[in-house]
Amino acid sequence: MNTSALLEPVHQFLHCSTPDAWIQKARLPENLPLLLTDHMICELKAAQTAMLLIRKYVADKSGSAMLLDWLRPYETYAFYNGPEVDFVALQKRVSKSEMPKTDDPWGQALIDSMVLLIKEELHHFWQVREMMAARDIPYVKITASRYAKGLLRAIRTHEPAMLIDKLICGAYIEARSCERFAALAPYLDDELQKFYLSLLRSEARHYQDYLSLAQQISPEDIAPRVRYLGEVEADLIRSPDPEFRFHSGIPDSLS
Ligand SMILES: [Fe+2]
Ligand SMILES: [Fe+2]
Repeated sequence: MNTSALLEPVHQFLHCSTPDAWIQKARLPENLPLLLTDHMICELKAAQTAMLLIRKYVADKSGSAMLLDWLRPYETYAFYNGPEVDFVALQKRVSKSEMPKTDDPWGQALIDSMVLLIKEELHHFWQVREMMAARDIPYVKITASRYAKGLLRAIRTHEPAMLIDKLICGAYIEARSCERFAALAPYLDDELQKFYLSLLRSEARHYQDYLSLAQQISPEDIAPRVRYLGEVEADLIRSPDPEFRFHSGIPDSLS
């Protein structure tokens, strides 16, 4: 796989690279359980975000119910101390015919790209869970980082600006994840390195899907908004952050 061709647009899109101090901390073996745990939850949150977008802006009642049912076992496990279920079998239960549909071309574009994204993020969730299990890392709930909250604070509160901003923020979260997977991969063991590099292609596509949905719905050029939210994102990455997480800023200590 030509990773540099995949990463070039991602690096151009982001306003800064991951600071070296973050990588130095993330590569320490003692931080691996925390990093994998946060990564696993981020995959689920990515799926949730996409589900909420479909539910809020497009889906009818039965489509909404189907989406809720789809994610519930994952949420129960991750957020409510529920049992670990057979996530592979769950995945197979979801059929295309049950997915929400709409006559609106933009709405259908949203459904199509977000349903694919949900499928892929849930698969990544399960893959991270397997990596943790293979390393005897138990799942212990942790607090979320400031990153997503920091981005959400910058979102405008009237429509369609709110939706456009949410989509642009989605693009930044996906692009940053992609950039961090690649930045961290060289410091991980062979198996994890292979896994992280295998995630690049889908995360790079996810960021582009979000961005093109934002441009499709916006009556004006989204470039100024993309620039602004890119600065907000970069500030969260470049500034000191007391809590170490997958999307955190500059750690205040190395340990
Ligand atoms: Fe993912
Ligand atoms: Fe993604």
